[in-house]
Amino acid sequence: MMIVKLTKNNLYNGSLVLVNADNPINERFKYGNLVAPFLEYENILINERASNILREVLNNINGYEQIIPVSGYRTLEEQINIYNSSVIVNGEGFTAKYVAEPNCSEHQTGLAIDLAQRSNNVDFICPEFPYEGICQVFRDVAMRYGFIERYKEEKKDITKISGEPWHFRYVGYPHAEIITKSNMALEEYLEFIKDYKYGENPYVYIKDGRKIEISYKEYDGENTFIRLEDSDLYLISGNNYDGFIITVWR
Ligand code: DAL
Ligand code: ZN
Repeated sequence: MMIVKLTKNNLYNGSLVLVNADNPINERFKYGNLVAPFLEYENILINERASNILREVLNNINGYEQIIPVSGYRTLEEQINIYNSSVIVNGEGFTAKYVAEPNCSEHQTGLAIDLAQRSNNVDFICPEFPYEGICQVFRDVAMRYGFIERYKEEKKDITKISGEPWHFRYVGYPHAEIITKSNMALEEYLEFIKDYKYGENPYVYIKDGRKIEISYKEYDGENTFIRLEDSDLYLISGNNYDGFIITVWR
């Protein structure tokens, strides 16, 4: 038996952190290593683990010829500049639909990347990433590796961002597959999982004979502990607002 203390730092870190208009990135968020998943685009960086997995997806679908990155990790200053210049060029209304307010952008976590179909004329704010061809192949496969299409048009009332077929967010496996198959926004998934309390009634996901238990533990200040079996393979992520998602592979 092992006891793990879940701290305030943990609450604001991990691949499932929610960053949106109501939940800005926390000053305790740690970026880890940022690396470039595309050799030709050395200035477009993302979280190292997300990058390794993205490269695996692109290699498996032979996607490197036709898919290019448009935007990855952004500093606060970059997000401010993108927001302000979009207001000047595109106006307030358009900008509010497609650009997150500074500190409310997932791009600041390094866990998000905008992708485009290769072309000579790529729009920086709204790149083309159609629901067909290699881009759709990417979409279909990526969820099995941990990426979700984060902003669906039909979820804009929840995400507060309009449909962005080009914006992918790393949340990890099997969360991406569950989110995509059940057509939930990340906001909805994080609320859904709160009904599955750690140590009581985990959500059980079975894939290829492997049992994965997903559950939620509320942050309770200094007294937040979970018990794990020594043999458990587990991953913990904060949700960036009130608790933790614990994923255990049995
Ligand atoms: N385009 C997305 C919403 C961002 O600015 O983070
Ligand atoms: Zn984006």
